[in-house]
Amino acid sequence: MKKERSSFTSRLGFVLAAAGSAVGLGNLWRFPYLAAKYGGGTFLLVYIILAITFGFTLMIAEIAIGRNTRLSCIGAYRKLDQRFGFLGWLASLVPVIITPYYCVIGGWVVKYLVEFVTGNGLQAAGDSYFASFTAAQLPGVFNSPVIWFVLYVLLNAVVVLFGVEKGIEKVSRVMMPVLVILSIVIAGYSLTIPGAMDGLKYYLLPRMEDFSIFTVLAAMGQLFYSMSLAMGIMITYGSYMQKDNILEHSVTQIEVFDTGFALLAGLMIIPAMVAFSGGDTALVRESAGAGLMFGVLPKVFESMMFGGVIGTIFFLLVLLAALTSSISLTETIVSILVDKLHIGRKPATVGVLLGVLLLGLLSCLGYGPLSAIQPLGMAFLDFFDFISNSILMPIVAFLTCILVGHVVGPKFIIDEVETSGAFHRKKLFVVMIRWIAPVMLLMILGTEILKFLGVISV
Ligand code: PHE
Repeated sequence: MKKERSSFTSRLGFVLAAAGSAVGLGNLWRFPYLAAKYGGGTFLLVYIILAITFGFTLMIAEIAIGRNTRLSCIGAYRKLDQRFGFLGWLASLVPVIITPYYCVIGGWVVKYLVEFVTGNGLQAAGDSYFASFTAAQLPGVFNSPVIWFVLYVLLNAVVVLFGVEKGIEKVSRVMMPVLVILSIVIAGYSLTIPGAMDGLKYYLLPRMEDFSIFTVLAAMGQLFYSMSLAMGIMITYGSYMQKDNILEHSVTQIEVFDTGFALLAGLMIIPAMVAFSGGDTALVRESAGAGLMFGVLPKVFESMMFGGVIGTIFFLLVLLAALTSSISLTETIVSILVDKLHIGRKPATVGVLLGVLLLGLLSCLGYGPLSAIQPLGMAFLDFFDFISNSILMPIVAFLTCILVGHVVGPKFIIDEVETSGAFHRKKLFVVMIRWIAPVMLLMILGTEILKFLGVISV
């Protein structure tokens, strides 16, 4: 007997599940540091333009492919065109690369949470704390980043192995609005720090001189990452979506939610960062990196009334947001193994977790004991982030555009979208998927390669 594919029971159910996967460390940890690094308001503007054109196009295409084929990405691409079967595999490689280092950052979040719970938030706000912690230079077992990474992987494992995602999702549905409100409060407070207004200007006002192809490059990579695009995940989500769900609406909702969250995270962090660096935006740009959220927010909490409590709640909520994302990442890999290797769910999960531990260990130690090894001149975590966001995802996105725009034709997607309602931005979709998106993606890939070869520099 053929098994019926289960569906999300409500429209909101779909949006919330997809948003749970989309909203995570990408919004809270990755977006603010890229925005700070790539010119503040200029990055913001480019990001928003890309989100409503490019992000919209790719997300609607992926969800429609999933809903039409009722398959996850490996089968779905093959069903659209035999020759594109490999694309499913390529897309599936992305979560394999991201999950391990995602868990490393998840571990950092757990560590900061514990520091705040135990009343050590003040210590975590120290200038060199983050660098020393991630470089594994702090004394004592409980200061080793490896312990926290392993703890996060176990946390993730417990949820996936015992199938309690439903529980986590329920909790996070209640917690997400709390996180939004708390973030608004924190952002509001950040803006009262002396000097923060200059930071607000830096964050919101675009300046032409800050614009370069690298701004577009960084914004595009961030878009893929944050909206869980170009890695097959939205195809899988779409395959569970009911036919009467108005596709364009849902996509708009996910996009607004995800982007809104990222903007808010930036608002919490960037003005405060500029204030702390005495208004020196050149310094801000130079020093913004993977440690930004961890460096700036404890300082904000430290100066706030009830900062210890607020910090505790905040890191707890970040942990939840990270978990809903890493669960969806892990699930994707597990389901591929179950489908393709015909092994049970338990052994597949255990296998994936061992792989995550092994690969993640490189990222976890890459700022400390392993810092002598620098693939492409980067620490391991940055290297994996680069390979997935700047190389693999643009390739997957490019080939998806070619497949949809020129091989099966945009009508396939349009018909699927229109089975459940109007497609208002149809014209935009067609032009984007056929011409603008693939050309831009090629330019981006070309730039990356030139950068890699050392022909141009950032
Ligand atoms: N989009 C998630 C985030 O912003 C990351 C993620 C990517 C989650 C891929 C699931 C799948 O953190």
